[in-house]
Amino acid sequence: MSKFQRGYADIVIGTQYGDEGKARVIDDIANNYDIIARFNGGPNAGHTIEANGIRIALRQVPSAVLHGEKLLYVGSGCVIDLEKLRDEIASIEGHGVYLKDRLRVSSQASVIQPHHKLIDEIIGGEIGTTKNGIGPAYSDRAIRMNGSLIANVRLGDLVDNPDKYFTIIENNFRLAQQRYGFQTIDLRAIIESMRVGLEDIKQYIELDTLFVQKKIREGSRILFEGAQSFMLDVNKGSVPYVTASPTNAAAAFTGGDLPPNFHGKTIGVVKAVMSRVGHGPFVSEFGGKASEEYCMAVKIDGLSVNSKKVESELPIDTLIASNNDFEVGQAFRVLSNEYGTVTGRPRRVGNLDLVQLRHAVAVNGIDEIVITKCDLLRNYSSTTRRQLAIVVGYKLDGKEIDYIPGSTDSYRRVEPIYEYMNGFSEDITTAKTFKELPEALKIFIDRVEKIVGCKVRGVSVGPDRCQYIQKS
Ligand code: IMP
Repeated sequence: MSKFQRGYADIVIGTQYGDEGKARVIDDIANNYDIIARFNGGPNAGHTIEANGIRIALRQVPSAVLHGEKLLYVGSGCVIDLEKLRDEIASIEGHGVYLKDRLRVSSQASVIQPHHKLIDEIIGGEIGTTKNGIGPAYSDRAIRMNGSLIANVRLGDLVDNPDKYFTIIENNFRLAQQRYGFQTIDLRAIIESMRVGLEDIKQYIELDTLFVQKKIREGSRILFEGAQSFMLDVNKGSVPYVTASPTNAAAAFTGGDLPPNFHGKTIGVVKAVMSRVGHGPFVSEFGGKASEEYCMAVKIDGLSVNSKKVESELPIDTLIASNNDFEVGQAFRVLSNEYGTVTGRPRRVGNLDLVQLRHAVAVNGIDEIVITKCDLLRNYSSTTRRQLAIVVGYKLDGKEIDYIPGSTDSYRRVEPIYEYMNGFSEDITTAKTFKELPEALKIFIDRVEKIVGCKVRGVSVGPDRCQYIQKS
């Protein structure tokens, strides 16, 4: 707790490869805080929140948007797409949820420039990026200048001198065009649209770089909301198949504009059956390499495939009882609806990896975890083994290791050591208390706590607000 004895800042991060259900955890606990703040990433994050009959898709605005009285802050660690932010705000306000005087965006956040998105289209394919220009924007932040031309343009720069900085954005585009040879586009129209976007969002740009600091010293309680997840951290994740920003807990302070003195606690969100989008190591993936290739093949014979539709017609009961892991994975994917919301692209799915989770807990100093989608564990009762499968050890080149290797090639060679536990077949989606949960699930949760060395704060048993169960 802070030596300043005023407000404090807690952190929520995903512990795996994203899509763990962080937004719903934030939604559950937002009432305990005054400010919900993002500290990394940009419009590459995407989730939908639902409450009181309203369904809102979020990209850059923090998740607690439906908690009317909370302040929402987007920190200097983020990258901003002006037009997408303008459209997102309009869409949120279209639902009667007003952001005036609630949303503050740091003037030190960097602007995603038109060339960033085009470069991402060209170079992001192997990683499987979201094509939002995230990597190129962070890369220009690190490059700082190309000779005498400023590479990193921040919101505060645009507010201070729009003519100068929009000209810089145009020049950056031309320079990148020479390097990458993109087709000529109507740059003037794009810049004009960005200018309009800036005018629309200007009222939300916070020029006071001590904004959060002043609030916390007055006693505000901050909740930092991690975007992407720990295994996608630019330095500590499964490099290079990661996002371009630091997603680890400590980054909340640098990117969220506070010194670390104010740290309260860190909550890690864990998905009971894991998933990942994009290429990269995934030790416990159902079907291994075959699954990675299948899920990453956006097109077959040059045609886009809507895997969600194709797989929904498969005989799931047969597949889940198959001896072929790839088919079991297909069944789990359908049963847990693990498809990209926009593209229908299949997410890779796998068993819960407790070595990875223990590593994430250690590196991030996680104090408590929430396990989401526990209702899906029931599906293990239809597999041939009828047991829950968890990864409890790693073997690298015949030797046991208890950490994630710092080399991607090594990580790809890691073999999982499995432990099997009794499963359950009950539908738990209507359970309201921890006591009501099946004994096998309670034993599983105890086992997770023991292996990972961190207490479980609660579990979710379905997507609705009311389907969250506090452990004690
Ligand atoms: P980028 O962040 O668009 O550069 O994409 C880099 C990698 O992170 C890709 O594998 C993406 O699929 C993944 N990624 C980025 N944002 C998210 C997210 O919000 N959830 C899950 N994966 C993500």
